[in-house]
Amino acid sequence: MYYKLAPSLLAADFGRLGDQVRAVDEAGAAYLHLDVMDGAFVPSISFGMPVIAGIRELTDKVFDVHMMVEEPGRYVEDMRKCGADLITVHAEACTHLDRVINQIREGGMRAGVALNPATPVSALDCVLDQVDMVLIMSVNPGFGGQKLIPYTLKKVEAVRRMMDGRGLHGDIQVDGGISPANVRQVLDAGANVIVAGSAVFGQDPAARTREFLEIFKEYEI
Ligand code: DX5
Ligand code: ZN
Repeated sequence: MYYKLAPSLLAADFGRLGDQVRAVDEAGAAYLHLDVMDGAFVPSISFGMPVIAGIRELTDKVFDVHMMVEEPGRYVEDMRKCGADLITVHAEACTHLDRVINQIREGGMRAGVALNPATPVSALDCVLDQVDMVLIMSVNPGFGGQKLIPYTLKKVEAVRRMMDGRGLHGDIQVDGGISPANVRQVLDAGANVIVAGSAVFGQDPAARTREFLEIFKEYEI
């Protein structure tokens, strides 16, 4: 199993975005987690296509776009054009989830499905075989810097069991409240793609990135 770090730019210093992206890129982060918020599915508004297209010129790392927007199918093509490699949509935000997953994959991108803390993993039952990644939210989406909700790790275990039971080797991403102090619990539960915002973009994003990657080495066999 491989393990990937996905630093969330939401916690970056937007006045020095280029430097911040280069710091985590050069330190070895494999993904860049891009939180798109519409002020409707979640209370806040973050950034969208122009910002993503702008940073696409700085790095060739995987652009992991987390769509916290209502009916994200409306933006799949725009996200492809501005450089998304992987688009994750919330099951709660899609009236036609199956259609949106197909749209993403037909656009040549990888597809992820996200579940809020209170959404049961049974919501994945029909689509699990069609997705490349499941995102288990470990906080209620909308803001960085929140505390991880412990029961969500039981959901990670349950999704890994569901995947194993079907012979699937998909990625499980966990997002919210993860730091070097608690990341082992998340990895032990079965996650292999870790999002970290405030734990990376503080004093020294490159050093924090390397700290996570050192911990991943304990799991890579
Ligand atoms: C929350 C976002 C997260 C957020 C994580 O709604 O989806 O990606 O940036 O931030 P931390 O790691 O600070 O909880
Ligand atoms: Zn996110």
